[in-house]
Amino acid sequence: MIATLRGVRLGYDDQGRGVPVVFLHGFPHDRALWDAQREALADRARCIVPDLRGFGTSEVTGPYSVDQYADDIASLLEWLEIPSAVICGLSMGGYIAMALWRRHPERVRGLVLCDTKATADSAAAQATRNELIALVERDGVDALVERQLPGMVGKSTRALHPELVEQMAAMMRRQPAAGVIGALAALRDRPDSQSTLRSITVPVLVLVGEEDVITPFSDAQAMVDLLPLTTPTRLEWITHAGHVPCVERPSAVTQVLADFLSMPSLSSL
Ligand code: MLT
Repeated sequence: MIATLRGVRLGYDDQGRGVPVVFLHGFPHDRALWDAQREALADRARCIVPDLRGFGTSEVTGPYSVDQYADDIASLLEWLEIPSAVICGLSMGGYIAMALWRRHPERVRGLVLCDTKATADSAAAQATRNELIALVERDGVDALVERQLPGMVGKSTRALHPELVEQMAAMMRRQPAAGVIGALAALRDRPDSQSTLRSITVPVLVLVGEEDVITPFSDAQAMVDLLPLTTPTRLEWITHAGHVPCVERPSAVTQVLADFLSMPSLSSL
């Protein structure tokens, strides 16, 4: 489906009935990242799965920033007449989920922060983003995929499921260069979200692949440590999975999400 939001076209899936859940993909992915969970949870949740601007079927147009992506999702919820939803974001999607809480808290009834972190880029990480922008400008998205693919999945997936590695590679390669470059700048310039985490009052699930080397368990634990003690919080790790557990261990992730979504405070609104 396509929504036109303030002149920008966003592709999205809208499947199922029940508690609304928005699934946000990471970088450089598209909404296919969450296909397994959308299918499996549709009997209990309304799964809204957008392509962020510049990715998948969405329009390739700026401005690109984490705040802009968050505003796009708030506009999509308004357009769908969904007052509030659980926001489930992986990595870059997690940065956007935290920005949604910062900018549109009334739209957020719960948060799932997968394989993400609260801190902004260090100066070294920002320099690497600039190198990657130059790489994509010069050699295209395939060159970036070659650099990023090894860290995208865990060592178990690399050893046992080459077909999943190929699935991720194909997803990454099909993203438009302009959207990828825009996202790299958005990631480079994203704000720190540590004080945002300290302000969260809705239930939070922090989920991480045990073998994630991009945003490891220590990042997940650091986010949990920042949440107020009164905020209902769960921390779950998925064994034999790296940075994209929803693709590497889809049933395990679906089970953890289903348990979280069954919390009365999320499903009864
Ligand atoms: C992602 O998967 O979205 C990226 O690893 C995020 C990042 O590079 O900070």
